[in-house]
Amino acid sequence: MKIAILAGDGIGPEIVAQAVRVLEALRSDGLKFELEPGLLGGCAVEAVGEPFPEATRNLVAGADAVILGAVGGPRFDTLPRHLRPERGLLSIRKALNLFANLRPAVLYPELANASTLKPEVVAGLDILIVRELTGDIYFGEPRGIECRDGQRVGYNTMIYSETEIRRIARVAFQAARKRNRRLCSVDKMNVLECTQLWRDVVIETAKDYPDVELSHMLVDNAAMQLVRNPRQFDVMVTGNMFGDILSDEASMLTGSIGMLPSASLDDRNKGLYEPIHGSAPDIAGKDVANPLATILSVAMMLRYTFDKEAEASRIENAVKKVLAQGYRTEDIYETGTKKVGTAAMGDAVLANI
Ligand code: IPM
Ligand code: MG
Repeated sequence: MKIAILAGDGIGPEIVAQAVRVLEALRSDGLKFELEPGLLGGCAVEAVGEPFPEATRNLVAGADAVILGAVGGPRFDTLPRHLRPERGLLSIRKALNLFANLRPAVLYPELANASTLKPEVVAGLDILIVRELTGDIYFGEPRGIECRDGQRVGYNTMIYSETEIRRIARVAFQAARKRNRRLCSVDKMNVLECTQLWRDVVIETAKDYPDVELSHMLVDNAAMQLVRNPRQFDVMVTGNMFGDILSDEASMLTGSIGMLPSASLDDRNKGLYEPIHGSAPDIAGKDVANPLATILSVAMMLRYTFDKEAEASRIENAVKKVLAQGYRTEDIYETGTKKVGTAAMGDAVLANI
């Protein structure tokens, strides 16, 4: 197993360090893998002048999986758009054809009070958001800012082909099959043609999955339902932009965005694994960031790319135990629990592996 490690910017290096320690702990149990570090994002711009350098491109092309921390920071926000760290992230997703982004939002019972929603609303929450990741308005052309009739206009293109819709729909139906067999497709078909096609193709695809109960929801309603009654959802499938927004919203149901891992897969289960949160420059280098989302991303990697279910569960169970033992980073801290930093949280997970 060849794994590329792209720590990135901000809190990226700190949280990835803890995830690597957890992975290394499994090596002594016979798991065989090679780790190779590379640059992505702002750190790559500073070192070699571009966010997704050639060397990283080659590294990830030759790897079976990639572990990524986070990219970006205020230092880079004034760079020209093609040099911004976020462009590095979008380019790596596109280059590896990682069209299927799986973002599970699971509430650990111990964190029911960490959510800003009432515990009885979020108790037992277990949602999987399947977000299309290489299309939509994120990549659509034409795009730009230009002068028309003496004033500046900005524009982007929301576009999906039926092939793109069908392949992400299949991933979502298959995921639903392994869960509670309910799939909710989210669109904005009352206004946007692009998402009318989305709904049509999802309905066509459903014919191959008669055992999965399909429903549809407009994105504004979905945003509302997620806070009103989130447990009505099992699997949600949606496009790149709606998925970006809804997955941040879903993360807060679980108490903290610092808890949510993600997998981005191509059609052969090669994957990039990253926490769904960003680089949090305000807390970078202070040993306060929550490493659990990244550690849980390692578990997803073992499960989805390497088919190592036992090892994946071991990591997930260790995280559950750590929470049950009362360890909390600042983002999930509440009175009566033990506040720990990033490295100490890593120690606690290791002790339970
Ligand atoms: C995410 C992030 C990225 C996205 C940014 C950093 C480009 O918000 O992974 O959700 O918009 O996809
Ligand atoms: Mg996002």
